[in-house]
Formats: sequence, C-alpha cells, structure tokens
Amino acid sequence: MKATLTLHREFSIGETDKRIYGSFIEHLGRAVYKGIHEPGHPEADELGFRKDVIKLVKDLDVPIVRYPGGNFVSGYNWEDGVGPVEARPVRLDLAWGTKESNKVGINEFARWAKKAGTDVMMAVNLGTRGPDSARNIVEYCNFPGGSYWSDLRRSHGVAEPYGYKLWCLGNEMDGPWQICHRTAGEYGRVAAEAAKVMKWTDPSIELVACGSSNARMPTFGSWEAEMLDHVYDLVDYVSLHIYFGNHEGDTPNFLARSLEMDTFIKTVAGICDLVKARKNSRKTVNLSFDEWNVWYHSNTADQKIEKWTEAPSLLEDIYNMEDALVAGTMLITLLKNADRVKVACLAQLVNVIAPIMTVPGGPSWRQTIYYPYMDASLYGRGTVLRCPVKCDFYDSKEYGDVPYLETVALHNEEKKEITIFAVNRNLRENLELEALIAGFGEVRLLEHRVLCNADLHAVNSATEEKVKPALQSGGKIEGNSGSKKLEIALPPASWNVIRLGGISN
Ligand code: AHR
Repeated sequence: MKATLTLHREFSIGETDKRIYGSFIEHLGRAVYKGIHEPGHPEADELGFRKDVIKLVKDLDVPIVRYPGGNFVSGYNWEDGVGPVEARPVRLDLAWGTKESNKVGINEFARWAKKAGTDVMMAVNLGTRGPDSARNIVEYCNFPGGSYWSDLRRSHGVAEPYGYKLWCLGNEMDGPWQICHRTAGEYGRVAAEAAKVMKWTDPSIELVACGSSNARMPTFGSWEAEMLDHVYDLVDYVSLHIYFGNHEGDTPNFLARSLEMDTFIKTVAGICDLVKARKNSRKTVNLSFDEWNVWYHSNTADQKIEKWTEAPSLLEDIYNMEDALVAGTMLITLLKNADRVKVACLAQLVNVIAPIMTVPGGPSWRQTIYYPYMDASLYGRGTVLRCPVKCDFYDSKEYGDVPYLETVALHNEEKKEITIFAVNRNLRENLELEALIAGFGEVRLLEHRVLCNADLHAVNSATEEKVKPALQSGGKIEGNSGSKKLEIALPPASWNVIRLGGISN
C-alpha cells in the first residue's frame, strides 16, 4: 500500500507550544504515594522522592505537570498540605473513596517538580470551595511576601514565590460525578469571580476554564457557550478531556478514535470563536487539552478496591501495543491543531493511567505509551507543517472512512531538522511512504525509529520490555536541492519517527 505526503517549508500550521507535552499528577491511587513518593525505597532521596522515577520523567522532558487533580481537587483543602507534616490532617477523599494523608502538599510537590525539571500547572477547588480559597492559594504560591498567605509560605521555609503561571479554574465541573458539580451558568459565575480575584492577586497568571469532560456529554457545546459567556474576557484557555478504550475489541475502530479527538478540538475552537464574535472581542481563547489518554483496562479491577484505604492501586491500566498506536495518533492530532492547542497533559504520569509504573520497594518501568510520548516530546518541537496526505482509507464502525496513514511533520529551524511522526493503521501491510520535500535545500535521513509488535496485545512489565523502539534501515532520499523525495516503509500497525537533518535552507 502506498501513501504520499508533501512538505514545504512555507506551509505551516503554527509553532508548537512546548506545554503540549505536559502531564498530570493527581492525588489518586499510587500516583503520589508509592509513585513519585516512597520514603524508605532504596532509590528515595532525602525527601522521600524516588530518584529512579525522576530519571524516567526527566528522560521524557516533561515541560509542565498539572496538580493536584482531577476530581480530587474539587474536595481539596490546599491548606491541609502545608506546614509541619506531623500536624496535617488525614481526610476522606470523596472523589475516589480513599484516605488522603496530606504528607505531600504544595511545597513537597514543588520540590519534586524542580528535581524533575518541570513546571507546575495548578488547579483550584471550585467544587466545595470558591473564589476565597482560590485567591489565597495564588497569594500563597505567587506573592513575594508581606501579606498573611505569602508570609505563611515563607514561614514554611519557601522564601521565594513559585510564580506559577498556569491555573485551572476547577476540574470537570460539568460532570455529575464531580464533588459539587454545577450547571454551566453556576460554574460560569463562580469561575468568573474566582478568575477576577486570582488575577487581581497576580495579574501575570493565565487561567483555564473547564470545558466539557468529554465530547459525548449531553451538555457538550451548550456548556462551553454558556460558561464562556460569563468568563470569556477573564480566561485564556478552555479545557478539553478525552479518554479512549477498546471495550469491543475492534482494533480498526479503536485506531480511528483520534478522528473524534480532532473533531472535538475543532468544535471547541469554533465555540470559542462564536463567543468571541458575539462579544465583538479581539481576544482569542485557546485550548488546554489537559487530560488525554487510553483508559479502560483497569475499569473492572477498580470496582473491587476496598474503600477508604490509602494509596490503593486505582486506574492502573497496563498498556499494550495498540494503545501505544492510539497514543501516537492522539499526539499527532494535538500537533495538527497546534494553532489552537497550547497546553496538553497526558493523564497521568505515574502508576495512574500512566507511562511510568513503579513496584513498591522495587523497580520502575516504562509502559508501551511511554515511547510515543517521549518521541513527541523530544523531537516534536518547532513549526508544525501543513502537509497534505494522499492514501487509502478503510471503513470503520464509528468513524466511516479512516485514512490508513496518520501523520504530521515539524520543522525545527534551530536544529535544522525535520521530524515526521506517522502511524500506519494498516494491520497487515507495509505502508510505502513517499514524501515530497520542498524549500529546505539539502536534506538527509538521520534515523527511522519504529515501535511495533506483531502482537497488538503485547505489554511491558517490570521484568520484560516487549514493546520498545528499534531503528529501521532502508529509507532513502533522492533529488536535487530544490526538491527531495523520501521513500520509506512503515511496518504494519506501527508508530514511526523519521528524522531528517542537515537542512541547508
Ligand atoms: O485522570 C483521571 C480522572 O479523569 C480525573 O481525576 C478526572 O478529571 C477525569 O475524569
């Protein structure tokens, strides 16, 4: 099977914002406790953070991590997690039916983030709480000193403000499962008032308003339009969340789900622009896709977890080869929408629907989805190119015609490199890709990295890595400096990273 792709230096979609390679740590299951934090583990540092986990996070070059939730944040008293650890209360977390020890809070997480080389995207509680606690946490984190909350931070040993720039106004407030779920009008009002006092406390912050929890919510669309009517002038981004599963065991349909993500993005961007037009505003509200992933493997096991335990093994999906392909198509979709999606978070980072897993007292290891996420984060920076594709389609159950090839290309001017990310959705045949490359002068093939496994249900574990990238040879580039032709074979059901370098223009 053949496919063609055309790349031209001048045809771009937009610059990537590095924050699209963000991730997420929620106080949920073993993400924090027994995940990033395990005092007494042979790899634990002086604060109890696992150095082996930090290394795996650093290898991903994660630019920003959303914290502390998620559903958890809608019942969270952030003050419980600051000050002397021995004085912190144990609380019931009603979102996940667990106990929260509060041994890790804002300041511990800040120290972890610094060690992991990442920034923090904070979320405030607009469930059980509201504007007052939201403005106070901004003051605690970002105000230099000389006020009650900033001096409290200083008394906790943190002299310099964190200066966190990105704040979520609650989490999934459209969902009936959310602690103190609200209607769009109720949320719009409380979010507007919280936004005002948060920005009055620190005018440099950016705010994310809650969009729909997913595109299949009954209120999808009307939620965005109504709540934006209240907050449009006060916020910078609207959030989107999506999780996919293959409950039916229909792999071709599962691999097509990124098309739904693409439509979701374009629809929410359209609604933002509709409100912009209605308000005759000059400001554009962009998108924060701050939860995305595959999530379904752990659903049944989670129902058997005993309630009110501390750090139980919740949402521990073990990902297989086909999940890595879906993650790859989702990353490509985020990139293809780089003109509107400025922030995105793979949900989540450690143990909970995560690329990184830990064994208590034992090793940490990489799930299958770790690899496309790492490739995109390391090589997917620069200008996203608008690249027309010609290829065959297949018929899928939910999405109709689906292209066998999902792809995007980036031009990194600084490194003089082009990267092509590509997923071959054909489960049986190679995809012979021909890429016409114009406007870059000289170009040579640096490497072709492939993630594939004939068994789409192959998984990794603490002891065996069945799904990991390998270099593939055979690709070639021909042509003169005006126009080049790359010919390269993409194996069946594969994630591909094609790196071209030595660009002369
Ligand atoms: O990431 C797991 C959960 O999924 C989050 O807490 C919530 O926001 C979403 O429903």
